[in-house]
Amino acid sequence: MKTILITGCAGFIGSHVAEKLLERGDKVIGIDEVNDYYDIKQKTANLEVLNKFENFQFHKFDLGDFKKVKEIFEKYEITHIGHLAARAGVRPSIENPHIYEHSNIKASLNILDIAKDYNIENTVLTSSSSVYGNCKDIPFKETHNVDFPISPYAASKKSMELLAYTYHHLHKMSINIIRPFTIYGPRGRPDMAPFLFPMWIEKGQPIKKFGDGTTMRDYTYIDDFVKGFISAIDTKLGYEIFNLGNSTPISLNEFIETIENIVGKKAQINQLPMQPGDVEVTYADTSKAEKLLGYKPETKIEQGLTQFWNWHKDFYLNNE
Ligand SMILES: NC(=O)c1ccc[n+]([C@@H]2O[C@H](COP(=O)([O-])OP(=O)(O)OC[C@H]3O[C@@H](n4cnc5c(N)ncnc54)[C@H](O)[C@@H]3O)[C@@H](O)[C@H]2O)c1
Repeated sequence: MKTILITGCAGFIGSHVAEKLLERGDKVIGIDEVNDYYDIKQKTANLEVLNKFENFQFHKFDLGDFKKVKEIFEKYEITHIGHLAARAGVRPSIENPHIYEHSNIKASLNILDIAKDYNIENTVLTSSSSVYGNCKDIPFKETHNVDFPISPYAASKKSMELLAYTYHHLHKMSINIIRPFTIYGPRGRPDMAPFLFPMWIEKGQPIKKFGDGTTMRDYTYIDDFVKGFISAIDTKLGYEIFNLGNSTPISLNEFIETIENIVGKKAQINQLPMQPGDVEVTYADTSKAEKLLGYKPETKIEQGLTQFWNWHKDFYLNNE
């Protein structure tokens, strides 16, 4: 049995990763500050799912607090780390970059700097597909140059990757970096299009459509992603970076059409210009993850969005 520290366990992806690890019998130590970046009701419900497991211990605090992070490593014999806590979102990072520096760089440095002294077998850190910026060479490969981030969020994730390499080099820590590509599904993040668009269409509210609809996103279903993430926890490789995406990008126009079919209503469109910081295409080359982690995403966008919509109706619309 592993004892795995999962940060950001009250959030969307962290709660799914923690749940799967608990289901298979690992012990999970969860940390999350439970901030109000989005409705806390959703994070509380995520924690309720995890609290049902005897092997789950939760601690609520800010990972920027070095002393508190150290206390956790003193208290438990942590064998593995899955670091998912972060301030997410590209556009808000342009408004408030300091919080991104705090939660994405300082907090990650705290974890690395403490973990180096505790004989951790393997650490997985969560970066982002945003590090590819407006890279023209598609699909994106882990070997591409990512020195040109176009938002403070992307820059904060690239900074974390650099710190991780340094800790691997100096202290021989085994670290896998994951770059997720637009993860969606039940418990999804309420600031993301796969959450907002079905809700707006259902309510007859206009969709904020940035650009002409030709931008492409590689939407990745949560269950597929979690399998890859857990495999990265289980696979000690030294220092490696992995794209976890679907390798099947679709245009914004196709995405809206798919949602219209699932919700059964036509979208009202509020046409807006492209936003600064937004990238034109995300498209993951996942061959490295397939080879080294056995990663193989299987969920088609129609299936995944239907799963999301069923959860959303149950959690929000039926409880209003
Ligand atoms: N969802 C996606 O499509 C996507 C894409 C690329 C990268 N990511 C990355 O995946 C990870 C998980 O994302 P998510 O979508 O589940 O986001 P989320 O916002 O649902 O979860 C992040 C959690 O981290 C917690 N947190 C933030 N700052 C903290 C701090 N300083 N101390 C303690 N807890 C803190 C938040 O309270 C939140 O519950 C993040 O690192 C994010 O940057 C997500």
